[in-house]
Amino acid sequence: MKRLTVPAIQRRKFEGKTQEPLVMLTAYTARQAQLLDPHCDMLLVGDSLGQVIYGLPSTLPVTLDMMIAHGAAVVRGSYHSVVIVDMPFGSYEASPQQAFASASRVMAETGCAAVKLEGGTAMAETIAFLAARGIPVMAHIGLTPQAVNALGGYAARGRSQEEHEKIIADGHAIAKAGAFAVVVEGVIEPIAVALTESIDIPTIGIGASARCDGQVLVTEDMLGMFERVPRFVKRYGDIAGMISETAAKYAGEVRARAFPGPEQTYQPKP
Ligand code: KIV
Ligand code: NA
Repeated sequence: MKRLTVPAIQRRKFEGKTQEPLVMLTAYTARQAQLLDPHCDMLLVGDSLGQVIYGLPSTLPVTLDMMIAHGAAVVRGSYHSVVIVDMPFGSYEASPQQAFASASRVMAETGCAAVKLEGGTAMAETIAFLAARGIPVMAHIGLTPQAVNALGGYAARGRSQEEHEKIIADGHAIAKAGAFAVVVEGVIEPIAVALTESIDIPTIGIGASARCDGQVLVTEDMLGMFERVPRFVKRYGDIAGMISETAAKYAGEVRARAFPGPEQTYQPKP
């Protein structure tokens, strides 16, 4: 199976009314990528890794070096999905030049196919700058976690008319600037539907709408690794329960001297 490409993902938008939604999940490690890759169109190395694997309080402290280390691992662990790496807070907002310097490192050092950055109208110039220089960009609008301090929390966006219009304008601006797709996160459903119907790039929803052109979730949320998850997450498994039970079995056998058994130990040759 050949790896999907960014243009192939973008074309999916136009494959008719019965078009199959695009499937995206986050991945942070090589083994996780190996397991998810056959089921996905895109793997996102999200800066959510700050909270999910490093226990940080938000995505803000995540660094470019962290994203590059995990991005390279996910590229090594996959051969089918398009791998997209998040640009972390502080690595792209200052100018298109700063964004190019950071994004070109991400592309060269990980082998990923595209980067993702947060922001709408304010990032349009940067998106155009990167796209014109060979760096495909996925945008991310609506609830943008890197702006948690400005937004005042992680509540759904677009409930006021002013905010509603701003998010629609953001979607139009990033599409016009040349983003190849856009994550629409945590918005009231009519915004996600209106954007999906009015821009010519795929919308990837999270807490948005089943009518988006694709969906994404944080894999650990989807697997049931956490007790507390946002309302928009559906837990498809109970991996937290499985890990606890499995660790308890191991601990019990160690304490009972039942592990290691004869099968797991080496004896001298007779
Ligand atoms: O960092 C992340 O995991 C993301 C997705 C939730 C879209 O940006
Ligand atoms: Na992110």
